[in-house]
Amino acid sequence: MNPEVRRAAEILRAGGLVAFPTETVYGLGADASNAAAVARLYASKGRPAEHPVIVHFADAERAFEWVREMPEAAKKLAARFWPGPLTMILKRSAKAQDFVTGGQDSVGLRVPSHPVAQDLLREFGGGVAAPSANLFGKLSPTAAHHVLEDLSGRIDLILDGGASEVGIESTIVDLSGGSAVLLRPGGITKAQLAEVLNAKIEEKKAQSPRHSGGLVRHYAPRTPARLVSAHGLDAEIAKLKDRVAVLAFSRPDERVEYWIRMPSEPRAYAQRLYAALRELDRAQCETILIESPPEGVEWAAVKDRLTRATG
Ligand code: TXA
Ligand code: MG
Repeated sequence: MNPEVRRAAEILRAGGLVAFPTETVYGLGADASNAAAVARLYASKGRPAEHPVIVHFADAERAFEWVREMPEAAKKLAARFWPGPLTMILKRSAKAQDFVTGGQDSVGLRVPSHPVAQDLLREFGGGVAAPSANLFGKLSPTAAHHVLEDLSGRIDLILDGGASEVGIESTIVDLSGGSAVLLRPGGITKAQLAEVLNAKIEEKKAQSPRHSGGLVRHYAPRTPARLVSAHGLDAEIAKLKDRVAVLAFSRPDERVEYWIRMPSEPRAYAQRLYAALRELDRAQCETILIESPPEGVEWAAVKDRLTRATG
């Protein structure tokens, strides 16, 4: 066992805050059974207290102790996608207290696959409440230095596990109401869920403030960002000139100093997205122009994040 991981588990047991890598984004962890630790977690992010947080476990067996009614669908999804980038919302057991569920009767559970997250969760043993390790409403971190940019001085330790592989937050599926409802698209697609469940997945455009990922402007850079079509890009650049930063599929235009060329494959795009937006944000331009991704369900998760970043 890595001594840093052992120290991290001790910090969690003592009620401290540990940022750790997952395959989606970096999480900011606290003991999910410790009210004071979770309160500190919310305060350090500037997150409103009524927002529920996802609880992370080393394996499905431990996760399901936090559930009082186990639908067959949850067992199937866990068997297929855990450990991995899927969060399930299920009816809570007494272990999931109001301070992690935001007073709701359900709890969000996830078993991440990143080896450092796995080691930490195994060493700690219990549930770790972990939102993304960024200030509330800002871009999720996909590298340890992103965590420092937002939360330096507010947390006890960061475990560095390199760049996150998926790059955007987990897929969230709500199974607490009898059917399967997609609350947030992510690395696991709607089609993959439908295939395993052999059922239609409903989609909820969550507007409720209970679900912070459901807020319209969330996961956003500080610089105002706008989506533009490929053929509209040239005219916008001509108008804004040197006051613009661009995220696009095409080669850089020499009129623009801050230009990031993105991969044309959706998974590679997602992996790069938040780091690219952070980089363009640092340029402190007037606007970030983002070329709209192509049509097609394989772009659903990326489109969701881009819509929020420009909301
Ligand atoms: O990939 C991820 O899910 C990352 C890593 C760290 O695991 N975590 C993450 O957490 O994105 P956070 O807090 O930034 O987003 C979690 C979302 C929020 O929108 C929250 O409101 C929702 O999950 N959520 C948590 N519990 C819920 C519940 N019981 N019902 C509805 N939504 C819930
Ligand atoms: Mg977040």
